[in-house]
Amino acid sequence: MSISYKDLGLTNSKELFQKAVDGGYAIPAYNFNNLEQLQAILLACVETKSPVILQVSAGARKYANSTLLRNMARGAVEYVKELGFEIPIVLHLDHGDTFELCKDCIDNGFSSVMIDGSHHSYEKNIELTKQVVEYAHAHGVTVEGELGVLAGVEDDVVAEESTYTKPEEVEDFVKRTGVDSLAISIGTSHGAHKFTPEQCTKNEDGVLVPPPLKFEILEEIEKRIPGFPIVLHGSSSVPVEYIDMINDNGGAMKAAVGIPEEQLRKAAASAVCKINIDSDGRLAMTAAVRKVLNDNPGEFDPRKYLGPARDELKKLYMHKNINVLGSANKA
Ligand code: G3H
Ligand code: 13P
Ligand code: ZN
Repeated sequence: MSISYKDLGLTNSKELFQKAVDGGYAIPAYNFNNLEQLQAILLACVETKSPVILQVSAGARKYANSTLLRNMARGAVEYVKELGFEIPIVLHLDHGDTFELCKDCIDNGFSSVMIDGSHHSYEKNIELTKQVVEYAHAHGVTVEGELGVLAGVEDDVVAEESTYTKPEEVEDFVKRTGVDSLAISIGTSHGAHKFTPEQCTKNEDGVLVPPPLKFEILEEIEKRIPGFPIVLHGSSSVPVEYIDMINDNGGAMKAAVGIPEEQLRKAAASAVCKINIDSDGRLAMTAAVRKVLNDNPGEFDPRKYLGPARDELKKLYMHKNINVLGSANKA
Protein backbone atom coordinates (compact mmCIF):
# COMPACT_ATOMS: atom_id res chain seq x y z
CA MET A 1 0.00 0.00 0.00
CA SER A 2 1.40 3.36 -0.92
CA ILE A 3 1.20 6.49 1.25
CA SER A 4 0.82 9.91 -0.35
CA TYR A 5 2.61 12.92 1.12
CA LYS A 6 -0.71 14.75 0.84
CA ASP A 7 -2.17 12.47 3.52
CA LEU A 8 0.71 13.41 5.82
CA GLY A 9 0.03 17.14 5.42
CA LEU A 10 3.29 17.75 3.53
CA THR A 11 3.76 19.90 0.44
CA ASN A 12 5.85 19.48 -2.71
CA SER A 13 8.39 22.13 -3.66
CA LYS A 14 6.85 23.49 -6.89
CA GLU A 15 5.14 26.63 -5.61
CA LEU A 16 7.69 27.26 -2.84
CA PHE A 17 10.51 27.38 -5.40
CA GLN A 18 8.73 29.77 -7.72
CA LYS A 19 8.07 32.16 -4.82
CA ALA A 20 11.69 31.87 -3.68
CA VAL A 21 13.07 32.60 -7.16
CA ASP A 22 10.73 35.59 -7.56
CA GLY A 23 11.42 36.82 -4.01
CA GLY A 24 15.24 36.53 -4.11
CA TYR A 25 15.65 34.11 -1.22
CA ALA A 26 16.43 30.41 -0.78
CA ILE A 27 14.55 27.75 1.14
CA PRO A 28 16.62 25.94 3.76
CA ALA A 29 17.17 22.23 3.17
CA TYR A 30 18.38 20.79 6.47
CA ASN A 31 19.24 17.10 6.90
CA PHE A 32 17.86 15.15 9.84
CA ASN A 33 18.59 11.72 11.29
CA ASN A 34 17.18 11.96 14.81
CA LEU A 35 14.67 13.62 17.11
CA GLU A 36 16.79 16.52 18.35
CA GLN A 37 17.76 17.59 14.82
CA LEU A 38 14.12 17.55 13.75
CA GLN A 39 13.04 19.52 16.83
CA ALA A 40 15.74 22.15 16.23
CA ILE A 41 14.80 22.54 12.55
CA LEU A 42 11.10 22.91 13.30
CA LEU A 43 11.56 25.27 16.25
CA ALA A 44 13.93 27.49 14.24
CA CYS A 45 11.72 27.56 11.15
CA VAL A 46 8.49 28.22 13.06
CA GLU A 47 10.14 30.97 15.11
CA THR A 48 11.53 32.63 11.96
CA LYS A 49 8.34 31.86 9.97
CA SER A 50 10.34 30.11 7.24
CA PRO A 51 9.26 27.32 4.88
CA VAL A 52 11.48 24.26 5.26
CA ILE A 53 12.75 21.23 3.39
CA LEU A 54 13.44 18.27 5.66
CA GLN A 55 16.13 16.23 3.96
CA VAL A 56 16.64 12.53 4.42
CA SER A 57 19.67 10.84 2.87
CA ALA A 58 19.96 7.13 2.10
CA GLY A 59 22.32 7.01 5.09
CA ALA A 60 19.68 8.60 7.32
CA ARG A 61 17.14 5.99 6.22
CA LYS A 62 19.59 3.25 7.12
CA TYR A 63 20.42 4.88 10.47
CA ALA A 64 16.98 5.86 11.67
CA ASN A 65 14.61 3.50 9.82
CA SER A 66 12.44 4.83 7.01
CA THR A 67 9.12 4.09 8.76
CA LEU A 68 10.18 6.06 11.80
CA LEU A 69 11.44 8.95 9.67
CA ARG A 70 8.18 9.13 7.72
CA ASN A 71 6.16 9.20 10.90
CA MET A 72 8.47 11.84 12.34
CA ALA A 73 7.63 13.99 9.30
CA ARG A 74 3.92 13.36 9.90
CA GLY A 75 4.50 14.35 13.53
CA ALA A 76 6.35 17.46 12.36
CA VAL A 77 3.24 18.70 10.57
CA GLU A 78 1.16 18.27 13.73
CA TYR A 79 3.86 19.73 15.96
CA VAL A 80 4.14 22.99 13.99
CA LYS A 81 0.36 23.41 14.31
CA GLU A 82 0.75 23.01 18.06
CA LEU A 83 3.53 25.60 18.03
CA GLY A 84 0.96 28.03 16.66
CA PHE A 85 2.32 28.91 13.21
CA GLU A 86 1.92 26.58 10.25
CA ILE A 87 4.86 26.52 7.85
CA PRO A 88 5.06 24.57 4.58
CA ILE A 89 7.06 21.36 5.11
CA VAL A 90 8.64 19.37 2.27
CA LEU A 91 9.98 15.86 2.92
CA HIS A 92 12.82 15.38 0.47
CA LEU A 93 15.12 12.48 -0.46
CA ASP A 94 18.69 13.80 -0.56
CA HIS A 95 21.01 12.25 -3.19
CA GLY A 96 18.80 9.40 -4.36
CA ASP A 97 20.97 7.25 -6.60
CA THR A 98 18.55 4.70 -8.11
CA PHE A 99 15.04 4.68 -9.52
CA GLU A 100 14.08 2.04 -6.92
CA LEU A 101 15.13 4.22 -3.97
CA CYS A 102 13.25 7.24 -5.36
CA LYS A 103 10.15 5.11 -6.01
CA ASP A 104 10.26 3.69 -2.50
CA CYS A 105 10.37 7.21 -1.03
CA ILE A 106 7.55 8.43 -3.31
CA ASP A 107 5.46 5.41 -2.27
CA ASN A 108 6.19 6.19 1.38
CA GLY A 109 5.17 9.79 1.82
CA PHE A 110 8.04 11.86 0.40
CA SER A 111 6.88 14.98 -1.42
CA SER A 112 10.14 15.60 -3.26
CA VAL A 113 13.09 13.47 -4.38
CA MET A 114 16.54 14.11 -5.74
CA ILE A 115 17.86 11.75 -8.36
CA ASP A 116 21.58 12.33 -8.46
CA GLY A 117 22.78 10.94 -11.77
CA SER A 118 25.75 13.29 -11.86
CA HIS A 119 28.28 10.45 -11.58
CA HIS A 120 26.89 8.84 -14.76
CA SER A 121 27.47 9.84 -18.37
CA TYR A 122 25.30 12.73 -19.60
CA GLU A 123 22.95 10.43 -21.56
CA LYS A 124 22.62 7.92 -18.69
CA ASN A 125 21.92 10.81 -16.27
CA ILE A 126 19.11 11.99 -18.57
CA GLU A 127 17.65 8.49 -18.92
CA LEU A 128 17.64 7.82 -15.16
CA THR A 129 16.35 11.28 -14.24
CA LYS A 130 13.55 11.08 -16.81
CA GLN A 131 12.45 7.70 -15.45
CA VAL A 132 12.19 9.15 -11.92
CA VAL A 133 10.40 12.29 -13.15
CA GLU A 134 7.74 10.23 -14.94
CA TYR A 135 6.95 8.22 -11.82
CA ALA A 136 7.20 11.20 -9.44
CA HIS A 137 5.01 13.53 -11.48
CA ALA A 138 2.31 10.86 -11.73
CA HIS A 139 2.19 11.12 -7.90
CA GLY A 140 2.46 14.93 -7.63
CA VAL A 141 6.04 14.66 -6.32
CA THR A 142 8.70 17.17 -7.44
CA VAL A 143 12.17 16.10 -8.65
CA GLU A 144 15.64 17.62 -8.33
CA GLY A 145 18.30 16.55 -10.84
CA GLU A 146 22.02 17.30 -10.85
CA LEU A 147 24.50 18.30 -13.52
CA GLY A 148 28.19 18.61 -12.66
CA VAL A 149 30.01 16.85 -9.81
CA LEU A 150 30.76 18.27 -6.37
CA ALA A 151 33.97 17.27 -4.61
CA GLY A 152 33.62 15.59 -1.21
CA VAL A 153 31.76 12.68 0.33
CA GLU A 154 28.17 11.74 -0.43
CA ASP A 155 27.31 8.56 1.43
CA ASP A 156 29.74 6.02 -0.03
CA VAL A 157 30.69 8.04 -3.10
CA VAL A 158 33.85 10.13 -2.79
CA ALA A 159 34.74 12.58 -5.57
CA GLU A 160 38.27 13.98 -5.30
CA GLU A 161 37.75 16.76 -7.81
CA SER A 162 34.70 18.82 -8.69
CA THR A 163 33.54 19.16 -12.27
CA TYR A 164 31.70 22.42 -12.79
CA THR A 165 28.30 22.33 -14.45
CA LYS A 166 28.52 23.05 -18.18
CA PRO A 167 26.01 25.84 -18.92
CA GLU A 168 25.61 24.61 -22.50
CA GLU A 169 24.03 21.38 -21.19
CA VAL A 170 21.39 22.75 -18.80
CA GLU A 171 18.66 23.69 -21.27
CA ASP A 172 18.75 20.31 -23.01
CA PHE A 173 18.87 18.46 -19.66
CA VAL A 174 15.92 20.33 -18.17
CA LYS A 175 13.85 19.95 -21.34
CA ARG A 176 14.55 16.26 -21.88
CA THR A 177 14.16 15.17 -18.24
CA GLY A 178 11.29 17.40 -17.09
CA VAL A 179 12.96 18.03 -13.69
CA ASP A 180 11.52 20.71 -11.39
CA SER A 181 14.87 21.97 -10.11
CA LEU A 182 18.53 21.55 -10.92
CA ALA A 183 21.51 21.15 -8.55
CA ILE A 184 24.65 22.65 -10.02
CA SER A 185 28.36 22.58 -9.27
CA ILE A 186 29.98 26.02 -9.01
CA GLY A 187 32.66 25.44 -6.37
CA THR A 188 30.81 24.19 -3.29
CA SER A 189 31.60 20.73 -1.94
CA HIS A 190 30.30 18.34 0.69
CA GLY A 191 31.60 17.96 4.22
CA ALA A 192 33.43 20.18 6.73
CA HIS A 193 36.76 20.18 4.88
CA LYS A 194 35.88 22.06 1.72
CA PHE A 195 39.14 23.96 1.43
CA THR A 196 42.54 23.55 3.06
CA PRO A 197 44.18 26.69 4.53
CA GLU A 198 46.70 26.44 1.66
CA GLN A 199 43.92 26.96 -0.87
CA CYS A 200 42.82 30.18 0.89
CA THR A 201 44.11 33.70 1.24
CA LYS A 202 44.06 35.68 4.51
CA ASN A 203 42.03 38.90 4.70
CA GLU A 204 43.07 41.96 6.77
CA ASP A 205 41.51 40.40 9.91
CA GLY A 206 43.52 37.21 9.44
CA VAL A 207 40.42 35.23 8.38
CA LEU A 208 40.98 32.51 5.77
CA VAL A 209 39.06 33.31 2.58
CA PRO A 210 38.52 30.47 0.09
CA PRO A 211 38.39 30.90 -3.70
CA PRO A 212 35.04 32.50 -4.63
CA LEU A 213 32.17 30.50 -6.08
CA LYS A 214 31.96 30.56 -9.87
CA PHE A 215 29.19 33.14 -10.13
CA GLU A 216 29.94 33.54 -13.84
CA ILE A 217 28.77 29.94 -14.38
CA LEU A 218 25.60 30.58 -12.36
CA GLU A 219 24.87 33.70 -14.43
CA GLU A 220 25.40 31.81 -17.67
CA ILE A 221 23.03 29.06 -16.47
CA GLU A 222 20.39 31.64 -15.49
CA LYS A 223 20.62 33.17 -18.97
CA ARG A 224 19.94 29.82 -20.58
CA ILE A 225 17.05 28.75 -18.28
CA PRO A 226 15.64 32.04 -16.93
CA GLY A 227 13.71 31.70 -13.67
CA PHE A 228 14.36 27.96 -13.40
CA PRO A 229 14.90 26.83 -9.76
CA ILE A 230 18.58 26.17 -9.02
CA VAL A 231 19.89 24.22 -6.01
CA LEU A 232 23.21 24.54 -4.18
CA HIS A 233 24.54 21.54 -2.30
CA GLY A 234 27.58 21.61 -0.04
CA SER A 235 26.71 25.02 1.41
CA SER A 236 27.95 24.80 4.97
CA SER A 237 30.09 27.71 6.12
CA VAL A 238 32.05 25.74 8.76
CA PRO A 239 32.00 28.35 11.56
CA VAL A 240 35.45 28.63 13.13
CA GLU A 241 33.80 29.03 16.60
CA TYR A 242 32.52 25.45 16.37
CA ILE A 243 35.86 24.04 15.22
CA ASP A 244 37.53 25.85 18.16
CA MET A 245 34.84 24.70 20.62
CA ILE A 246 35.27 21.09 19.47
CA ASN A 247 39.07 21.25 19.74
CA ASP A 248 38.97 23.10 23.10
CA ASN A 249 36.87 20.28 24.53
CA GLY A 250 38.88 17.24 23.59
CA GLY A 251 38.24 17.10 19.84
CA ALA A 252 40.85 16.92 17.11
CA MET A 253 39.48 18.54 13.97
CA LYS A 254 41.90 19.74 11.32
CA ALA A 255 41.64 23.32 10.12
CA ALA A 256 38.52 23.47 7.96
CA VAL A 257 37.10 26.19 5.75
CA GLY A 258 33.59 26.42 4.29
CA ILE A 259 31.60 28.70 1.98
CA PRO A 260 31.50 32.30 3.25
CA GLU A 261 27.99 33.37 4.22
CA GLU A 262 28.05 36.53 2.04
CA GLN A 263 28.54 34.33 -1.02
CA LEU A 264 25.55 32.19 -0.09
CA ARG A 265 23.45 35.32 0.48
CA LYS A 266 24.43 36.52 -2.99
CA ALA A 267 23.49 33.14 -4.48
CA ALA A 268 20.16 33.12 -2.62
CA ALA A 269 19.26 36.47 -4.18
CA SER A 270 19.54 34.84 -7.64
CA ALA A 271 17.69 31.81 -9.08
CA VAL A 272 19.22 29.66 -6.33
CA CYS A 273 16.10 28.73 -4.37
CA LYS A 274 17.27 25.78 -2.23
CA ILE A 275 20.45 25.69 -0.16
CA ASN A 276 21.59 22.41 1.44
CA ILE A 277 23.21 22.58 4.86
CA ASP A 278 24.17 19.53 6.89
CA SER A 279 27.79 19.74 8.07
CA ASP A 280 27.31 23.01 10.01
CA GLY A 281 24.56 21.33 12.02
CA ARG A 282 26.83 18.39 12.77
CA LEU A 283 29.53 20.77 13.98
CA ALA A 284 27.10 22.74 16.17
CA MET A 285 25.79 19.61 17.87
CA THR A 286 29.22 18.05 18.35
CA ALA A 287 30.62 21.29 19.78
CA ALA A 288 27.73 21.59 22.27
CA VAL A 289 27.88 17.92 23.33
CA ARG A 290 31.66 18.04 23.80
CA LYS A 291 31.43 21.19 25.90
CA VAL A 292 28.74 19.82 28.24
CA LEU A 293 30.56 16.53 28.74
CA ASN A 294 33.93 18.22 29.21
CA ASP A 295 32.48 20.66 31.76
CA ASN A 296 30.46 17.92 33.51
CA PRO A 297 32.39 14.64 33.28
CA GLY A 298 29.91 12.90 35.61
CA GLU A 299 26.89 13.63 33.41
CA PHE A 300 25.18 10.59 31.91
CA ASP A 301 21.61 11.70 31.17
CA PRO A 302 21.44 12.06 27.35
CA ARG A 303 18.89 14.87 27.72
CA LYS A 304 21.52 16.92 29.53
CA TYR A 305 23.83 16.97 26.50
CA LEU A 306 21.40 16.43 23.61
CA GLY A 307 19.19 19.27 24.93
CA PRO A 308 22.00 21.87 24.71
CA ALA A 309 22.99 20.41 21.32
CA ARG A 310 19.41 20.96 20.11
CA ASP A 311 19.46 24.54 21.45
CA GLU A 312 22.73 25.31 19.64
CA LEU A 313 21.35 23.83 16.42
CA LYS A 314 18.17 25.89 16.66
CA LYS A 315 20.25 29.06 17.14
CA LEU A 316 22.37 28.19 14.09
CA TYR A 317 19.35 27.53 11.85
CA MET A 318 17.60 30.72 12.94
CA HIS A 319 20.74 32.63 11.98
CA LYS A 320 20.86 30.90 8.58
CA ASN A 321 17.20 31.63 7.82
CA ILE A 322 17.41 35.29 8.86
CA ASN A 323 20.89 36.33 7.75
CA VAL A 324 22.01 33.94 5.02
CA LEU A 325 19.10 32.43 3.09
CA GLY A 326 16.61 35.26 3.57
CA SER A 327 13.77 32.77 4.14
CA ALA A 328 12.53 34.30 7.41
CA ASN A 329 8.95 35.59 7.20
CA LYS A 330 8.40 33.86 3.85
CA ALA A 331 6.20 31.00 5.13
O1 G3H B 1 25.25 15.30 1.03
C1 G3H B 1 25.22 14.54 1.98
C2 G3H B 1 24.51 14.91 3.23
O2 G3H B 1 25.32 15.71 4.04
C3 G3H B 1 24.01 13.69 3.94
O3 G3H B 1 25.06 13.00 4.52
O4 G3H B 1 24.81 10.73 3.55
O5 G3H B 1 26.13 11.10 5.66
O6 G3H B 1 23.63 11.28 5.68
P1 G3H B 1 24.90 11.41 4.86
P1 13P C 1 27.33 20.35 3.54
O1 13P C 1 28.19 19.15 3.75
O2 13P C 1 28.12 21.52 3.04
O3 13P C 1 26.52 20.72 4.73
O4 13P C 1 26.28 19.99 2.36
C1 13P C 1 25.14 19.24 2.62
C2 13P C 1 24.47 18.77 1.38
O5 13P C 1 24.72 19.19 0.28
C3 13P C 1 23.40 17.76 1.55
O6 13P C 1 22.92 17.32 0.32
ZN1 ZN D 1 24.38 17.28 -1.23
